[in-house]
Amino acid sequence: MSNINRRDFIKSAGILMAGTALPLSTIEMVFADSQQNFTFAYISDSHIQHIKGKQFVRNWDRGLMRAVAETNLMDPKPDFVIYGGDLAQLAKKSEIDHGLELLSGLRHKTYYVMGEHDYYLDLGEYWESQLGPQYYSFDHKGVHFVVLNSILTYDDWTYNRWSSGEERMNVMAGLDNPNGSPFMVGEKQRTWLKADLAKVDKDTPVVVFSHSPLQKLFKNWNFWTEDAEQVQALLQPFKKVTVFYGHVHQIQYNQIGNISFQSVMATAWPWPYPKTYAQAPNYMPKLTVDMNRADPFFERDATGWQFVDIHNGNAAMHYSLANNSRRTVAFNTQTGRPEDMKYQDHRIPPQTHY
Ligand SMILES: [Fe+2]
Ligand SMILES: [Fe+2]
Repeated sequence: MSNINRRDFIKSAGILMAGTALPLSTIEMVFADSQQNFTFAYISDSHIQHIKGKQFVRNWDRGLMRAVAETNLMDPKPDFVIYGGDLAQLAKKSEIDHGLELLSGLRHKTYYVMGEHDYYLDLGEYWESQLGPQYYSFDHKGVHFVVLNSILTYDDWTYNRWSSGEERMNVMAGLDNPNGSPFMVGEKQRTWLKADLAKVDKDTPVVVFSHSPLQKLFKNWNFWTEDAEQVQALLQPFKKVTVFYGHVHQIQYNQIGNISFQSVMATAWPWPYPKTYAQAPNYMPKLTVDMNRADPFFERDATGWQFVDIHNGNAAMHYSLANNSRRTVAFNTQTGRPEDMKYQDHRIPPQTHY
């Protein structure tokens, strides 16, 4: 599959994310000089959940096992793998250990992103002891990669409200729990990011991995990063910026200024689209098609794979869904925003207000 995509899109300048097979994604960096091209794989949101003893939720295990197996079969082989966060369900040692045991089958260098389900039991202590820093950057073949922990929140919420880490984790694990709190990157990390990016040439492609979207889409479900604009401002000086994120378990896309946003599907389960999407001014087109609820008798429904062609900074995403028809979301140069090729209703203007 990668070979087909490589052949089809090799001429594009920019970044290409190529799907292989569900439920992982491969991402191909495409340069004018094809010798520089490379691929990496992206696996996210496995939510490994401990029941008791040696029992874990089998379906979540299976999603991750399949992703690992198919990553190892990829041709060409990815240069590395990104794990996009929410490896665990309730951040238990047993869940992180079991998830890492399943991921240990990967034959590739793997970089990890922190998810809220990995964090709020012990504030990332065990995750960090096993996987290293919660935010960092690295360079690979002319691209600057940044990994952020975007699921932090206000200190008052984190430290002052809960009788135990379990209680805090359970509240944050609820999709629409009114006692939750908005995610953020935070001032400490933004200061680090500013210093990190100061060393990078403005022509260098920058790819950022976060768990939550670095944009404000739907606060009630925390499809939201409170200081998104401040992070975006640090990325604005660069010519080509792409943000990849997990967390939302569904297809999303956006373009804000020079920054392309792409979500990646989960290996565990899909979320439906919220009824009212954008709560802040942005370039997200008004949602015209509600996503069907997943079929409970088909465990892989609404999970899937995708490849994304980002041509000159504009994204064209090609989705293959396990039990649904294919979809393509491409940047429309006429309207200046990404549009769903099949479903977009051009008569509805982009949603730009609350
Ligand atoms: Fe998740
Ligand atoms: Fe998440």
